[in-house]
Amino acid sequence: MENLHDKRKVYEKSQLIESEIKQNPIEQFRDWFLEASNSPVVSEANAMAVSTLEEDGCPRTRMVLLKEYTYEGFIFYTNYTSRKGKAIEKNHKACLSFFWPNLERQIIIKADLERIAENLSDGYFHSRPKGSQLGAVASPQSQAIPNREFLEEKLKALEKEYETGEVPRPSNWGGYIAKPYEIEFWQGRPNRLHDRIIYQLEDLDWKISRLAP
Ligand SMILES: Cc1cc2nc3c(=O)[nH]c(=O)nc-3n(C[C@H](O)[C@H](O)[C@H](O)COP(=O)(O)O)c2cc1C
Repeated sequence: MENLHDKRKVYEKSQLIESEIKQNPIEQFRDWFLEASNSPVVSEANAMAVSTLEEDGCPRTRMVLLKEYTYEGFIFYTNYTSRKGKAIEKNHKACLSFFWPNLERQIIIKADLERIAENLSDGYFHSRPKGSQLGAVASPQSQAIPNREFLEEKLKALEKEYETGEVPRPSNWGGYIAKPYEIEFWQGRPNRLHDRIIYQLEDLDWKISRLAP
């Protein structure tokens, strides 16, 4: 169909060297994330790929939005009975990744996942626009549905039901916190000699190593 053999880019925007990095990967993440989210050439800096392990042994990846990060981990919101939700409930692990092409940067995070406290999910759910709240109630995420009208009719009925008053958060919708135990930062460099710095949690300390590109 199409040969892409000559489609490649020269990476030369920045570098990642031991004397300049943070000792804590969350602080390193914050440096890069702030740069990405303040950059006019990066849109949706908080969009990240989340890969989970499926029952057939194959990982499955989809994008979600990072909504908060702390020293403890990375928080996103979803439907707990979705395909990803079921995979997470089963093996409590996921791999998160960010790619900001215009900064020539990638971050890969391996993490243990837990549901956040119900009151925190309530707080975030009710901070969303009412339309998004109703959309979350209307959508049986990841299930097969007969057609688009099915959702639109459900939404219309819910809009009527909750014309006044608060929309209750569905019990199967909420946040996960991904608590990292490995974080790799990748910075594109010339001649394919990219910088890769990996932080690995060992006995509560972060061990830092450089990997060959
Ligand atoms: C940029 C982007 C952001 C998204 N953010 C979310 C999100 O925060 N939460 C979510 O459940 N789905 C989000 N989605 C939709 C998911 O990619 C996915 O379609 C949905 O969660 C169902 O996934 P699953 O069937 O694998 O569980 C987003 C999609 C894109 C492209």
